[in-house]
Amino acid sequence: AAVGKGNYRHFMEKELHEHPAVLGDTLRQYLDPKTLEVRLPRLPFDPARVPRLTISACGSAFLAGAVGRYWIEELARLPVDADVASEFRYRDPPLAEGGAAILVSQSGETADTMAALRLLKAGGQKVLSVVNVPESSMARESDGAVLTVAGPEIGVASTKAFTAQLAVMACLAIGFGRARRELSTLDEGRLTQALLEVPSQAAQILEQDAQIRDLAAEVAKARDVLFLGRGSLYPIALEGALKLKEISYIHAEGYAAGEMKHGPIALIDSAVPVIALCPTGPLFEKTASNLQEAAARGGRIMAFTDADGVAPLSRFAEHVIELPKVGAFSTPILYAIPVQLLAYHVAVLKGTDVDQPRNLAKSVTVE
Ligand code: AGP
Repeated sequence: AAVGKGNYRHFMEKELHEHPAVLGDTLRQYLDPKTLEVRLPRLPFDPARVPRLTISACGSAFLAGAVGRYWIEELARLPVDADVASEFRYRDPPLAEGGAAILVSQSGETADTMAALRLLKAGGQKVLSVVNVPESSMARESDGAVLTVAGPEIGVASTKAFTAQLAVMACLAIGFGRARRELSTLDEGRLTQALLEVPSQAAQILEQDAQIRDLAAEVAKARDVLFLGRGSLYPIALEGALKLKEISYIHAEGYAAGEMKHGPIALIDSAVPVIALCPTGPLFEKTASNLQEAAARGGRIMAFTDADGVAPLSRFAEHVIELPKVGAFSTPILYAIPVQLLAYHVAVLKGTDVDQPRNLAKSVTVE
């Protein structure tokens, strides 16, 4: 059946508001709320035995994979190579004997990711795809598939499919950690519990729509925007920049906050908003000090943080938006939502074609 926009102005807006439901549906597939255990479908490889994992995908799907790399390396102590499919397919990387790969895709039809799939299989790797369309080429040709339960995504800019990909990567990371005996039952329960709270936290973030719209009014005036994050929020900074470019046509770049002083800080002046993803936690002090350096050079800091981060960041930031306080593990999923919302509101203010941005196709099936 055709999917409608309901009472929303755009498919993207509707899909943004589907986050809590989609995250709930996806997590329920792979987590047992009673035992607090991860329940993965049959995998084509044994995570306890693979020496190395390759993650490849394109665009936002790649960035979901890049967050997965942080999680899998941290929780499962499994080395991961992550590369965009258009590079991976031509750089002839040495593949580990007995190795495995994860490909990530909403459509399951992206040409470069399909090429990576075939190359990986020819190289003897067992391939698992994280895909939203069960009958897609990728789901069929992979050795195994884990589905995101995002439903049809019509807006060209990925929203709910992206956070659903993150949710699946999080479950895989916990499952791999358990299989490799890197996580205790207690750790698994704690991480699973944190994930189970994500859908309601996502709903709380959506209630901050008006605040994010106010921020968008500032960002819409800019010609260039910087997004900063560290650790597993670095790929989310890249995603924020990608989303803003895609639908508002404002030039944006995502950077690892610690890289600022190696070049991008030269860009800082009062015309360049710096959007910071800065929850309290292990990397807070480091990121905050990078931001303070940018503020000292006239940069306008607009920070997303939690209750404990508001006071310290307010000393130098122009805007501080308070998000729910969550453990470091869930932050990439939750901080993806405000950056998507921000891009959405900036695009609406600029009057662009939000659902069908120029020059872009929903699924890139040619090279
Ligand atoms: C996301 O907003 C993009 N439109 C794009 O980067 C997309 O994620 C990419 O083309 C990959 O598509 P896929 O998930 O269908 O493979």
